[in-house]
Amino acid sequence: MASGDPSFGRGAAGRQLHSAEAVDVASASNFRAFELLHLHLDLRAEFGPPGPGAGSRGLSGTAVLDLRCLEPEGAAELRLDSHPCLEVTAAALRRERPGSEELPAEPVSFYTRPFSHYGQALCVSFPQPCRAAERLQVLLTYRVGEGPGVCWLTPEQTTGKKKPFVYTQGQAVLNRAFFPCFDTPAVKYKYSALIEVPDGFTAVMSASTWEKRGPNKFFFQMCQPIPSYLIALAIGDLVSAEVGPRSRVWAEPCLIDAAKKEYDGVIEEFLATGEKLFGPYVWGRYDLLFMPPSFPFGGMENPCLTFVTPCLLAGDRSLADVIIHEISHSWFGNLVTNANWGEFWLNEGFTMYAQRRISTILFGVDPDDTYNETPYEKGFCFVSYLAHLVGDQDQFDNFLKAYVHEFKFQSILADDFLDFYLEYFPELKKKRVDTIPGFEFDRWLNTPGWPPYLPDLSPGDSLMKPAEELAQLWAAEGLDMKAIEAVAISPWKTYQLVYFLDKILQKSPLPPGNVKKLGETYPNISNARNAELRLRWGQIVLKNDHQEDFWKVKEFLQDQGKQKYTLPLYHAMMGGSEVAQTLAKETFASTASQLHSNVVNYVQQIVAPKSS
Ligand code: BES
Ligand code: ZN
Repeated sequence: MASGDPSFGRGAAGRQLHSAEAVDVASASNFRAFELLHLHLDLRAEFGPPGPGAGSRGLSGTAVLDLRCLEPEGAAELRLDSHPCLEVTAAALRRERPGSEELPAEPVSFYTRPFSHYGQALCVSFPQPCRAAERLQVLLTYRVGEGPGVCWLTPEQTTGKKKPFVYTQGQAVLNRAFFPCFDTPAVKYKYSALIEVPDGFTAVMSASTWEKRGPNKFFFQMCQPIPSYLIALAIGDLVSAEVGPRSRVWAEPCLIDAAKKEYDGVIEEFLATGEKLFGPYVWGRYDLLFMPPSFPFGGMENPCLTFVTPCLLAGDRSLADVIIHEISHSWFGNLVTNANWGEFWLNEGFTMYAQRRISTILFGVDPDDTYNETPYEKGFCFVSYLAHLVGDQDQFDNFLKAYVHEFKFQSILADDFLDFYLEYFPELKKKRVDTIPGFEFDRWLNTPGWPPYLPDLSPGDSLMKPAEELAQLWAAEGLDMKAIEAVAISPWKTYQLVYFLDKILQKSPLPPGNVKKLGETYPNISNARNAELRLRWGQIVLKNDHQEDFWKVKEFLQDQGKQKYTLPLYHAMMGGSEVAQTLAKETFASTASQLHSNVVNYVQQIVAPKSS
């Protein structure tokens, strides 16, 4: 196809993409040598004790890859991303024989080669090289037990505490520890899967369709091409309830009522607003899966089935912005995808912009959320700047729709997007907006630091000012309780409280006694169940060494395992008093077994840093 098919490396409109040549330093595979037409997984899940050993928990079966050779000179081997935790026991090859019926697969040899701490190469050797454009099928028999890609949880680690649970988290480079593949976002393909589970378990996947086959098998098909990192599986004691014409919530039985109540009717509104702005929702269904408490993210945009933390069941819909964020990935990230992880901001920066367009339309004022990391916020800021250059929101919304249409089902680099932007707005191109001194596009993308442009968030001022002023009062030596009590915070929305607490944290440590008084004055903050509030109260408690409330930090870290809550609290503990450092060690000892392996590694670095 590389030589023959003129559409290779071109977008929907036949554009030659920069990404067609891009390297992915995080992949050990020879993904440019083949087109991956389809992947089928046939896996059986067994719950048992942690491995190794007979009867231990694991997934076992086959991965079948349908390939076409793209190498003009042919290819002598297929190199896939894999991981030492995948035990591959056999490889077989079925080659196309034009005219003749399907031949049996012949066994072929394979070997592994070290690559990095997060993976290894699995090399399958062909007895004779495959020819350019030849189609072939590679069948791999394997098993995976413990490892970073497949997360096994004991019953105690679930919400219901009755049955074990297993899930996969692919982003960014963990799915090579789930199945052998081209583990790069540059490659997209369709997949199907047949999953066998023990009696009484339900399997769900990021797939367009699912059906039950007999009492113990589930069959899935994803009929749009997606990158490897978006293939996701979860198996547990799961039930579901409809919450909209194309949405269900999935959860353990003990959570399903709360989940239905919180999300009934709202998802459809988010999807419809996204469609109006960015074009058709191509994924068919949008389901939500409520994960066990140790799930390390707020949300993960697995197509057709977003995985979310149970912290989102706050009872007040205040955390809907996470859902809107994950829904926005249906266009930015899942349809138009970064071609390698160096371009991650294309996924997250656009998604932040889309998320805020949707919430601005639905809720008027944009309740600026609380996440704040470079690919997210600097990415958002750059997209806002490009909108500002256009000057007209409707025109920019139309551009976003055209952008999705142009690059859908492709993986791209920033340069692909920028070329398209300048073509779409020829007047801006003529004005050379990409080289305005101080605002060069290249500077935005390649110079560290906060960009010189700040999006206009002034509509939020009237909501945020009172919070800021109240924080000022609480930072004073000798509290003016009269002035403080004059400010009624009970009508405040969660994001206003969050903002208030962020300001308190900035001003901390406060004069002695103030934090104690603060907690007594606002029990709805110091005893909050909302995770965003619990995080911030914990940070304030630690920054002020308010030891009376240290137990709340520990309790919060035992209740859930989200990375974005866990790491800042361990940083704060280790940066605090001796008592705080002891708290860190105790808490880690009591929670490590429940955390995602990536999170365990990060916390370890904080609590007991290894000299690198
Ligand atoms: N795709 C990300 C989560 C992710 C990022 C997983 C990098 C693995 C590696 C997801 O869309 C996300 O950004 N989640 C945020 C939600 C927030 C920004 C609303 C989270 O988990 O906090
Ligand atoms: Zn995201």
